[in-house]
Amino acid sequence: MEKFVINGGKTLHGSVRISGAKNAILPIMTATLLTSGKSILRNIPNLNDIKMMAHLLRIIGARVDFHDGLLEINTEYCSYYEAPYELVSKMRASIYVLGPLLSRFGQARVSFPGGCAIGTRPVDLHLQAMEALGSYIDIEHGYINARCKKLQGNRIKFPKSSVGATANALMAAVTASGRTEISGAALEPEIASLIDFLTLMGARIRGKDTDQLIIDGVAELHPVEMEMIPDRIETGTFLIAGAITHGDITVENCFPDHLSHPLELLKKAGCNIKVTDTAISLHAPSSLKAIDIITKPYPGFPTDLQAQFMALLCLATGTSTIKETIFPERFMHVAELNRLDADISLKDNIATVKGVPALSGAPVMANDLRASAALVLAGLAAQGQTEISRIYHIDRGYEHIEFKLNKLGADIKRIQG
Ligand code: EPZ
Repeated sequence: MEKFVINGGKTLHGSVRISGAKNAILPIMTATLLTSGKSILRNIPNLNDIKMMAHLLRIIGARVDFHDGLLEINTEYCSYYEAPYELVSKMRASIYVLGPLLSRFGQARVSFPGGCAIGTRPVDLHLQAMEALGSYIDIEHGYINARCKKLQGNRIKFPKSSVGATANALMAAVTASGRTEISGAALEPEIASLIDFLTLMGARIRGKDTDQLIIDGVAELHPVEMEMIPDRIETGTFLIAGAITHGDITVENCFPDHLSHPLELLKKAGCNIKVTDTAISLHAPSSLKAIDIITKPYPGFPTDLQAQFMALLCLATGTSTIKETIFPERFMHVAELNRLDADISLKDNIATVKGVPALSGAPVMANDLRASAALVLAGLAAQGQTEISRIYHIDRGYEHIEFKLNKLGADIKRIQG
């Protein structure tokens, strides 16, 4: 198993280029199943989750070729409609095949996703949406068995905002007969990007960037080519790397509009931020100020940056609070940050972070994707050496993170441990 060894205390300077957004790419990969032929996706990072989704599509019968940041997916000969346990248990995003498989084959068999390091993650809203569109669902032997004659447009009202359920409902509705109206749809940029992709394929969707979507089903979609949007969470993570090391960095090839809330908070913490259409420059103060954060669905503060902001606030002057409302148990990083001499206490879904003058390097363990990013950030700022084990979590969502950080002046090595 590989580890990161970080010699902390180096100030980061320079610029870094952001990769394509994993969480936008995964549903779009499954959307290619809605048509027959070769679609091409550009700006694809070399990440384990993308490779796992490619593997799942191959099981379904697609030909997937991944090279030089391009994904070519030929869905002409797809014939299988199952997402097996071995894959779904490793990557929950496998549930994204549910809507496309139902649309294509009138049936789908998808392993029921089990436990997750970030807390309870039900899929009831995905299933309710598929039922609303006319499919029958049985849960048997750990599998979701769904079938329908032909998906039928209907009204779907989500009682809470869900990125995944909105994506599945959209993908099922675009070729359903008649009109589907989704209310309470998620507003995340990854949903807008999926809508762009489906529209390019020939889908008829109105209401993008609102929580009311109207979809008029079409008989057929066609294969397309599209550039994937930049990763807003990677963008935020690198900005924090600049802030936590008192650095001066520019994050390029990003969409600053997708990070309005986190940028406001970085300013509140004392960072100087300058924005162009596709880049963000951050100049960190010598001492950061405490802030309060509440995670919310987009355009609120993203839960996927909660752990990284917590690492930053460990070194702010004063006491910060972080309330997690999306995944109330997503605090596995707290105990590990405290191993680095942070002072964080937890009550229910609220973390209280008392700023300390310095963190000190120690061995720590990554336990989910964003928690590992937080440990890398803390390690960059800590005095001495931090060794992070189980970094396979970080390879799911950050492309060449050590290479990019070292280019900014960090000292981080990947070793066999
Ligand atoms: C997506 O997960 C992301 N994953 C997550 O990214 C992200 O944390 C999350 O959205 C929230 O922004 C991908 O895009 C692959 P949700 P998803 O459905 O779609 C509840 C990362 O680190 N809910 O929007 O699974 C749920 O429990 C990750 O990259 C139900 O109750 O999240 C949560 O409280 C991990 N029933 C809330 O909705 C359901 O059927 C939002 O979850 C579905 C969700």
